[in-house]
Amino acid sequence: MPAGERYKSLQTAGRLYGDLIQRKVDRKAVIVALGGGVIGDLAGFVAATYERGIRFAQVPTTLLAQVDSSVGGKVGVNHPLGKNMIGAFLQPQGVFIDPRTLDTLALRELRSGIAEVVKYGVIADSDFFGFLESHVDEILRRDPLAITHIIRRSCQIKARVVEQDEREANLRAILNYGHTTAHAVETYTAYERYTHGEAVGVGMVVAARIAHALGMLKAEPVHRITRLLERFGLPTHLPKADPGVLMSLMDTDKKAVAGQVRFVLPTRIGDVQLVDNVPKDVLRRAIKESLEL
Ligand SMILES: NC(=O)c1ccc[n+]([C@@H]2O[C@H](COP(=O)([O-])OP(=O)(O)OC[C@H]3O[C@@H](n4cnc5c(N)ncnc54)[C@H](O)[C@@H]3O)[C@@H](O)[C@H]2O)c1
Repeated sequence: MPAGERYKSLQTAGRLYGDLIQRKVDRKAVIVALGGGVIGDLAGFVAATYERGIRFAQVPTTLLAQVDSSVGGKVGVNHPLGKNMIGAFLQPQGVFIDPRTLDTLALRELRSGIAEVVKYGVIADSDFFGFLESHVDEILRRDPLAITHIIRRSCQIKARVVEQDEREANLRAILNYGHTTAHAVETYTAYERYTHGEAVGVGMVVAARIAHALGMLKAEPVHRITRLLERFGLPTHLPKADPGVLMSLMDTDKKAVAGQVRFVLPTRIGDVQLVDNVPKDVLRRAIKESLEL
């Protein structure tokens, strides 16, 4: 199939069902998802629904897919009215990662995956965050040892969280650090200006600023998070926009609970809390402080 988020659709899934039926693929088959997150989500969704569910394995080839989307069992496709609106939970039989596949990945895609790696440091592991701070060059150079380490540690953290809360009753939501703002930014810019990882990077800075304004987080970690993202070449500013517009886009986030926007806010590097009642004026100020000039 052609590359691109827009092909992660029910239409492509329908074509794949047709191929499977014509080839008389039976319930003993295993679907292998070889590619980035788009392929993993789509192939996993087809596996979850074909003949009421067959097995699948993930062979992720982008950093984002290796550290995030291939682990955890969320599979799905987009609907014209919203991203990832149709989906299922299906754990793969295994996730097989060859870090050398990253040798051909575009630098911008690599950086996009790095944003999610930084996220794991902030939400769960300050030592890992320190490792990232001291290995920026090696990681951007795709040094095999550094890259293998960040993939392994990211997968461990994600797997540990998902094992405890597969269906996102509560704890799994910490993986959404940076994502409330990211979704608003992606919608505002029609998915054209930022990659998902870039939007998450900006979102992590906004969330850190909110936490600081609420007295939950000191100024120094806000600076460290922002600085690390900058050193990786990731954007840390929101697009020029009316804060009110971004706030209303946050309200329509899929993860809003009973109309309350949920933020994942750091309390230090290595720990976060879920906060449902961020006052509007605090949010507005954090957005204003983060706008690009
Ligand atoms: N299921 C989950 O838990 C979860 C979590 C995060 C993101 N996602 C989903 O993941 C998707 C994004 O994934 P992505 O960032 O991997 O994007 P992607 O799958 O679109 O891949 C990005 C680009 O890299 C190319 N590519 C893939 N592997 C390559 C390689 N080894 N060398 C050169 N080019 C390569 C692809 O063809 C594509 O053009 C989104 O649809 C998002 O919703 C899912």
